[in-house]
Formats: sequence, C-alpha cells, structure tokens
Amino acid sequence: MTTAIIILAAGQGSRMVSDLPKVMHKVAGVSLLGHAMRCAAQIEAEKTVVVVGHQGEQVSELALTIDPDVEIAKQKTQNGTGDAVRQASEKLQDFDGDVIVLYGDTPFVQPETLQAMQDSRRNGHDVVVLGFEAETPGGYGRLIMQNNILTEIVEAADCTDAQRKIGFCNSGVVCASAKTLFSLLDEVADKNSSGEVYLTDIVSIANARGLNCAAISCDESETLGVNTRHDLAKAEAIFQSNARLAALENGVTMMAPETVYFALDTVLGRDITIEPNVFFGPDVTVENQVTIKANSHLEGCHISEGAIIGPFARLRPGAEIGGNARIGNFVEIKASQVDQGAKIGHLAYVGDAHIGAGANIGAGVIFCNYDGVFKHTSVIGKDAFIGSNTAIVSPVNIGDEALIGSGSVITKDVPADALAIARARQETKSGMGKRLMDRLRSLKAKK
Ligand code: UD1
Ligand code: CA
Repeated sequence: MTTAIIILAAGQGSRMVSDLPKVMHKVAGVSLLGHAMRCAAQIEAEKTVVVVGHQGEQVSELALTIDPDVEIAKQKTQNGTGDAVRQASEKLQDFDGDVIVLYGDTPFVQPETLQAMQDSRRNGHDVVVLGFEAETPGGYGRLIMQNNILTEIVEAADCTDAQRKIGFCNSGVVCASAKTLFSLLDEVADKNSSGEVYLTDIVSIANARGLNCAAISCDESETLGVNTRHDLAKAEAIFQSNARLAALENGVTMMAPETVYFALDTVLGRDITIEPNVFFGPDVTVENQVTIKANSHLEGCHISEGAIIGPFARLRPGAEIGGNARIGNFVEIKASQVDQGAKIGHLAYVGDAHIGAGANIGAGVIFCNYDGVFKHTSVIGKDAFIGSNTAIVSPVNIGDEALIGSGSVITKDVPADALAIARARQETKSGMGKRLMDRLRSLKAKK
C-alpha cells in the first residue's frame, strides 16, 4: 500500500508570540517543519504535501529547500485543521493509497510509530489515530474509547467535566485511505466553540457511517505538540536528554552531559571526549578519538580522528579539521581546511584558508580574508611556521616550510623554505631608556 503524507503548517501559532511562523522555530537546530518532513522522508512516502497559509511564502520556501519534491497546498484562511487537510485534496486527486496527516508543530513522531498505524490500517481499521497518555492533558483533544473502539475526539474547550479528566489524548496524527479521509472531511462542519473545521471530527462521522476507528498509543515524549515557547523549551530538553543518553551509550565520554548540546544531525564516532559546556550546531561530524575541550562552539564542521579542539574554540561552517590537528583557545575557524597535525593554538582567526599538514599558526594570527567587498583565500604550505601576531592579507600563498617573522603583515606570496619579515626594523638606542625615565621622574617630583 502506498502512502502519502500531509503536513499541516498553515497556522499562525499566535501562542508563540512571534513574527516567525511557528513551524519555522527550531528544536535541535532544525525547524519544527524540518522534523516532520524528516519523519515523512523516513517512511519513504510516495508524496508529501505541505499545507501552508500564514506567512506561506516563507514556509513553502523552507519546505522546498528541505525537499524540492514536496508539494505545496495553500490554505487561504486558517479555518482549522480539517479545513487545512481539505486544501491538500487537489494534490492527491489521483492518489488511491493511504494518507497520514502530521501536524507541523509535533516534531518527534517516529517512523516506526507511523508504521504501526499503517499495520493497524491493514488489520481492518478504516481510521487510525495516534494517541498518548498525557501527564497533564491540558489543551489536548481527548480520545473517547468504548470497547477498544475510538468513538470520538473531543477538543479540550468542548469537553464535559468528566471528559476533561480523560488522560488519553490526541497527537493529531491520523491515518486513513485518501478516499475515506476526504469523504469524511466533506461532512465536517464548524459547529464547535471556536467555529473552526476540526480534523478530529472525522472520527464521530466515521462511527456514524459504521466505519471502524482505532487508536494506537505511543509515549508522550513522541507526541509533544509545540504551541508556546514553553513547549519549545520542553521539546528541546527532551531531545537533548535523549541525544546525551545515545552519545553515552555509543562510546562518548562526557563529565557533565547535561551541559552539552547536540543537533539532530550531529554525527559522533567512538572514544570521543566532550568536556562541559560544548554546543553543537547543525551539520557537525566528529570522528573517533577526538577531544573537545570545555566551552567550544561547533557548527557545519568535520573533525578528523585524534584532533584536539578547545577549550573555547569556535568552528564555523566549512571548517575541516584534519587528523591529530590542534585547535586551541579563542581560535575561530571558518570555511578552511586544516590538514593533518597542524597546530593553531591560541587567539587566531582563520577564514577561507588552507593550512598545510604540520603547519604552526602562532598566537594572534589573523587571516584578513575580507576586503570589505570580496572574500579571498590564502594557502599555507606544509610545515610552515607563521609567527605570532601576523596578519595574512589574503589572497597570499605561503610555501612549504616557509617561516614568517612575528608581527608581520604579509601581503605577497612567500616561496617554500623562505623567511619573510614584514614589519618595521627594531631600533635600539643605548642609555636612552634610563635617561627618559629619569626625566619623567624628576618632572613628577617637581609637581
Ligand atoms: C490539535 C488538535 C488536538 C490535539 C493537538 C495535538 C484539532 C482540532 N485539534 O490542537 O486534538 O490534541 O493538536 O498537538 O485538530 N493548522 C493549519 N491550519 C489551520 C489550523 C492549524 O495548518 O487552520 C496547523 C498548525 O500550523 C499546526 C497544526 O495544524 O501545525 C495544529 O494546529 P494547532 O492550532 O496547534 O492545534 P491544537 O490546538 O494544538
Ligand atoms: Ca498544536
């Protein structure tokens, strides 16, 4: 049976109090929409339709960046989740498989859970809803069960006092055949306290038609719906706690795992040590036997085996760190390749550069890669030595084993094995220092 996914992402998310559409807020470095789309990709859905509305241009641009094959449906006014699903029907006109509806604000639904819902469909259930036992049911819709049959979903605002006490809640994820889903939606009206067209109403309509509705249950951590910044922080905390456990289980040592932050796509090898307060932004890969010392910030970088990073290092997108290289404190590296065994120990900025194997970049070296309009690239040869406080004014090429005197401002290429010094020559005047100080002291005494 083929499957299509509809992701609802048209709502404003007013409870976020934000200029950014809710589904563009991030958890684990990835937008909420990105999480839902990732889940859709993992079950290899035949088609994915994202329903956009509020700030739809921005949301559809994001969706198409994540997956150019995704289809976009537009919901003109945000009349509720049922109305949103209706907007996707045109894109699924000739589709006769199953449809799974995901909410764009529910980031952690797992592909295995969607698989279980599809299995339940195959066992003869016409409509399958994903539910969970909520610790605090609050604003979630309640699933009304009778003899294992899901008879109705009642939104929190429309619950009776007795219904409000029910802990079994609606995640929003629904699976049904495209035909059944859209025909049930045709009957949904907006007769409820908010005047919206609720997707959840398809359950009672299905029951009235004699169709068979079931609820599958999963853990609450999987179905957390993000409505507020508080929920966003809660989602981040859930993700981080799982990611830390997974890292510890897979051979990573962390003295204070609660202070280390991962992204959804962080890739870690084994026998890695991560000291406290390290932050991983998106797209970081760390190979085996790497040590990342305290207070380092990494994003968009690749660290090869045996390298030592930090403390207080910043690796920005495009930093490629070779095996056994050393990147020390207050060093920032951007869009640069640092080859095997090179050392950049202290207080340096390396941008748009290639640092050869075994090269030593001294304290305070700055790559002046930007002229105010263009970015330029520099190359430092193998085993070259760049003295402290040198400015490399890109573009320049420094040859293998070249030596640059400290404090130089290098604006021209330096061939291999050469010594370059580019600073004012030192003058030493004998006796002058003492004479000067004596004069100053006598001036002070006269005051
Ligand atoms: C919804 C469910 C509720 C469930 C909860 C789970 C309904 C009526 N209620 O409530 O039973 O417990 O999710 O998290 O379905 N959206 C649109 N267009 C709209 C309205 C919403 O695309 O017109 C999208 C939103 O962008 C969001 C999702 O649908 O991604 C859910 O909408 P939201 O308003 O957050 O629903 P809840 O009140 O959380
Ligand atoms: Ca919600």
